[in-house]
Amino acid sequence: MWTEEHREWATVDYSSLKDGTAFPKGFMWGVATASHQIEGGNTNNWSEFEPRSKSQQLSGLACDHWNKRTEDIELISALGVSHYRFSIEWSRLVPEQGRWDAQAAQWYSELVDELLAKGIQPMATLHHFTHPVWWDELGGFERTENIQHWIDFCVRIFDLLSDRVEWWCTINEPAVYTSMGYVLGEFPPGVRSFKRTRAVALNMMRAHAQCYRALKQRPFGRRSHIGLVKNINLFDPYRRWNPLHWLQAKLLDGMFNRCWIKALKTGRFRPPSGLRSYKIPGIKGSSDFIGVNYYTHLLTTPFMPTKVEIDPLIRPWETRTDFRYPMYAEGLRRAFDMVKGLNLPIIVTENGVADDDDDMRPEHVRRHLQVTAEAIADGLDVRGFYHWSLMDNFEWAEGYDQRFGLYHVDFESQERTLKDGGKEYAEIVTSHRMPQVVIMAGGLGTRLGSMTEKTPKSLIEVNGKPILSHILDWAQAQGCLNALVLTGHLAEHFDGFTHSGMAVKFHREPSPLGTGGALWNAKEHLEERFILLWGDDLHPIDYAGLIETHQKGEAPMTMCATESHTEMNLRHQNGVLEAYDKTSTLEGLNGYEAGTSVVEKSVVMEHGKSGVWSWEQTVYPALAGRIQIHLDDTPFWDMGTPERLALLEEFLKKTTL
Ligand code: GAL
Repeated sequence: MWTEEHREWATVDYSSLKDGTAFPKGFMWGVATASHQIEGGNTNNWSEFEPRSKSQQLSGLACDHWNKRTEDIELISALGVSHYRFSIEWSRLVPEQGRWDAQAAQWYSELVDELLAKGIQPMATLHHFTHPVWWDELGGFERTENIQHWIDFCVRIFDLLSDRVEWWCTINEPAVYTSMGYVLGEFPPGVRSFKRTRAVALNMMRAHAQCYRALKQRPFGRRSHIGLVKNINLFDPYRRWNPLHWLQAKLLDGMFNRCWIKALKTGRFRPPSGLRSYKIPGIKGSSDFIGVNYYTHLLTTPFMPTKVEIDPLIRPWETRTDFRYPMYAEGLRRAFDMVKGLNLPIIVTENGVADDDDDMRPEHVRRHLQVTAEAIADGLDVRGFYHWSLMDNFEWAEGYDQRFGLYHVDFESQERTLKDGGKEYAEIVTSHRMPQVVIMAGGLGTRLGSMTEKTPKSLIEVNGKPILSHILDWAQAQGCLNALVLTGHLAEHFDGFTHSGMAVKFHREPSPLGTGGALWNAKEHLEERFILLWGDDLHPIDYAGLIETHQKGEAPMTMCATESHTEMNLRHQNGVLEAYDKTSTLEGLNGYEAGTSVVEKSVVMEHGKSGVWSWEQTVYPALAGRIQIHLDDTPFWDMGTPERLALLEEFLKKTTL
C-alpha cells in the first residue's frame, strides 16, 4: 500500500534554500532543453507529424537556437548554473541514410566548447523524442533491426564529443514516447495500438542497453556517466477506499513506471500490456545514474480520460498548472524512493511547470528543491537538478501554448526575458555555488633570478605547467566556475593562456597599483562575494569548509590561517582576527595568514580608492576585530625563493591535485 503524502506548504521553512546550506557543494545545478523544442528548422518525425498534431502548431523556427547559440549560453551562464542538458538532433547529423553532416556535428562541438569556456558542464541526450524521417520510414523503434542505425549515430557523435562531454543520457522517457505515440496517439506516429506499443517499448530498452554497452567500450567510455532518463508519473487512487481506483493506480504505475525500472535491475522487461517478460541482453546494470523527470501525479478511476485535453481529477487543495495536472512536489520524493532500489546516483534531469503568467513558478521551484534537499539530508544519493526548461519552447502536441521557461520567449521577436521563477532559481543556485576566484597574478619573480625578473611569478612553470594552472585546477576541483585573474600591468604575458572548463577572465592595470589598487581597478568584474588567492601560492584547502565558516560568521571577510608555520604574522582569538603584523614583531602572535580568503565585495567598495595601495595594510587594520578566522593547517606552497620553488615542484610530482 502506498501513502499519498500532502504537506502544509505554508508552514515550510525555506530559509536554507537561500543561505546556501540546503545542498552539498558540488551539487549539479542545471537547466534542460531538447533539440527539436528550441533549435528551429528541423526536419524529422515530429516536423512531419505537426500538421496532424492536436494543436496543429508547427515548430518552425522554435527559439531559433540554431542561430542564437552563443547568446543562449549567456542566458544559461547568467543563471549561475554549472550544468546544461541538451539533446543532439540525429536528423541534423544524418539527414539522409548514410550521409553524415559534418557542419551540424561541428555546431554541437562548438556548443560544447562554448559551454566549457563558461565553466558549464554539458550533458547530452541521444534520443529526445525525435529522429530522422528516413529512419521513421524504416519503422523507427518498431523494428529491432533498425536499432543499429541509431547505435551507429550514437557512437559517432560520442567519439566526437566524449573527450569533453562526460554526461550522457541515452533515451529520454521511453514510457512517454511509447504511451504518447502508440497508446494515446498524441505524439508521432499518432496511433493507438497495444501491439505496436509493446514492440516499441521492447526495442527502446534494447536500444538503450546496446547504446550503453557500445559507448562504454569507446575511448572515454569508462570515465563517462551514461544513463537512462525515466519520467516518473505517480498514479494515486482517486478514492483510496475504492478497490477499482486502487487497482487502476497499481496497473498504470506498473505499466508506466515499475516495469521499466525493474528491467534495469533484473535484466528482464515485461513491456506495458505484455503478458510475458523478455530477457534484454546487456540491460542489467546499464546505467551509471538514473535520470528522473518528474512533473506530477494523476488520480485514477477506471473511467479516466484517455485524452490529454480533458481535465484530470485533482485534490481540492491542489493548484492546477497550465497543463491542467496539479503541482504536487511531495511526489518528487516518492519518485526518488521508487528508483532508489537501483542503487544508482539519482539526477533530476527535468522538473518544471507550465505557467504562462509565472505566478506559480517561484513556489514550484522552492517546493521541488526543498523536497530534493530533504531527500539528500535523509541519505538519498541525489546528485543534481536540471530545471525544465531554460526558456519557453515548442511543447510538442501543445505547441507554443505551454510555457515552461525560466526565460520568457517572445516568439515574434525572439526576445528572451528572465521571469521571476528564473530569478528565484538563480538565487537559490548562486547561494549554493562556489564564488568567483580572484587571483592576484601581477607579482614579478624578482627573487627568483633573471629568468623571472620580467615575468609574472604566476606564469612560472612548476611540474610541467604554470603555477597559475595548478591554482586554477584546484579551484575548479573545488567547484569554482569563474576566475578573474588580475594580471598587473604586464598583461601581455598572459596572452594565449587558457584553462578548460572554467571561465577565466583577465584584467590588467595601466601601471602597477599594488594589491588593493588592483582589486579596485577590477571592481566592475568582482562578484558580490569572491575567494581571494595569490597567484604564486598553491593552497589546496577544502573551500567548502572555508565558505561554511564565512557564512556562519556573517563577516565581511574570512581569512584562512594556519597555526603550524615557522613564522607567525597575526593574532586571533575566538575565531576573529585581532591584529595583523607582517613584520612579526608584535607580542602574542598565534597564526599565519595562509593565503585564501573569502571577501564580500562591499569591503572593496568601502575601503577602495584609486591609485597605489596595499590590501593588507589598509583593510586588515580597518577590519581588525571583524575579520573571521578559518583555521586550517593544510600546508601551502609558495615560490618566493628558488628553494621553495623546488619544494613545490617536488610536492606536485608526488601528488595529483
Ligand atoms: C517531458 C519532456 C520534455 C518536456 C516536458 C514538459 O516529458 O521530456 O521534452 O516537453 O515533458 O512537458
